[in-house]
Amino acid sequence: MTIRTQVAIIGSGPAGLLLGQLLFKAGIDNIVVDRVSKEHILGRIRAGVLEEGTAGLMDQAGVGARLQLENLPHDGFDLVFDNEVHRIDLFNLTGGKRVHVYGQTEMTQDLMDAREAENLTTFYDAQNVFPHDIDGESPYLTFEKDGTSHRIDCDFIAGCDGFHGICRKVVADNGMQTFEKVYPFGWLGLLSDVPPVHEELIYVNHSLGFALCSQRSKTRSRYYVQCAVSENVEDWTADMFWDELRRRLPDEAAQKVITGPALEMSIAPLCSVVSEPMRFGRLFLAGDAAHIVPPTGAKGLNLAASDVHYLFEAFREHYADNSTAGIDDYSRRALLRVWNAERFSWWMTSVMHRFPDMSTFDRRIQRSEFYQLTHSQAASTALAENYVGLPY
Ligand code: APR
Ligand code: PHB
Repeated sequence: MTIRTQVAIIGSGPAGLLLGQLLFKAGIDNIVVDRVSKEHILGRIRAGVLEEGTAGLMDQAGVGARLQLENLPHDGFDLVFDNEVHRIDLFNLTGGKRVHVYGQTEMTQDLMDAREAENLTTFYDAQNVFPHDIDGESPYLTFEKDGTSHRIDCDFIAGCDGFHGICRKVVADNGMQTFEKVYPFGWLGLLSDVPPVHEELIYVNHSLGFALCSQRSKTRSRYYVQCAVSENVEDWTADMFWDELRRRLPDEAAQKVITGPALEMSIAPLCSVVSEPMRFGRLFLAGDAAHIVPPTGAKGLNLAASDVHYLFEAFREHYADNSTAGIDDYSRRALLRVWNAERFSWWMTSVMHRFPDMSTFDRRIQRSEFYQLTHSQAASTALAENYVGLPY
């Protein structure tokens, strides 16, 4: 079956769905295709801290109502180094900016609900999705679903299919340059329906390793402890996790933490990856399809949102003003913000984690970074500005 649309979007994660909703609101026809089911996508436990720009895009897409009602605004977070707690006052350091705790799963659900309510064309469980003729004037997608072959003729293809998607593979030998850094540790994460230990997030640098106290709501908590890349999540029980977390938390938090059964436990490797450029003819990469950040700075989801902002504006300008300026400048604009977020995420990972090959000198340097952050307005302002998100 052949159908036609203006923008064909591969991937029904946050990037693909947010782009699809913004395009719909601007009257630009689009189709979303994903290789898995809605349930599979919603079952993924991912990020939970939104920059104001991301929340703003949800409003712009007309899907911000639940986010506005249920998000937890955060004006700061605690940094802990050798049991010394210091609050980073995001709100006052950035002239009134904050971040919003709202799960990626909820954001994805809101976008899926909106797409379904508008009856927008979406194919889940699509096999062998493949972009064709991306260097020509008439690109198209092919895929199979329920034994039927489909073709989608379009003007543009948005590759929002994540780091393991087909779009990266198709352009890998088409001039793509990849920059990568792999960190020698991972994050063991646990999700539990227990009240968060603190009203704000707590980032800990401890001699046993990094720990993070995060949250999804006032009744659901998300915790992480740094672990070796060789660790298997099957070797961990919830009780073992809670014990390790309490060993790393500052005394007051360690005594207050409320434990409970794990809704989910998983280990995520940490890496930084950027692929350049983000445009190949009529194919445009956005989100994890183009870049990965270590989760330390909470930038993965927010970078997907800023890519979508630039890409949406480029498509809107093309159809409204018959201009290619935004399209031609998309990769440069997106990569500028991507690299700033990559730098921040790398820096925060370097300051907050215990590296296996750390020397005593390296440890003292980490300690002096903490001293800068707790005694220099300039240093803490730089951290705060990057954490709340640089301007689009
Ligand atoms: N064909 C069709 N769909 C595909 C293919 C393919 N070959 N490969 C991957 N996909 C789909 C996946 O099933 C997934 O639903 O693309 C979607 C990509 O979504 P994400 O991986 O969530 O990427 P993105 O939308 O860029 O969001 C980035 O998600 O993984 C987190 O930490 C990341 O928070 C960040 C956010
Ligand atoms: C999360 O809640 O999953 C989270 C929060 C902040 C981070 C990383 C992850 O820096």
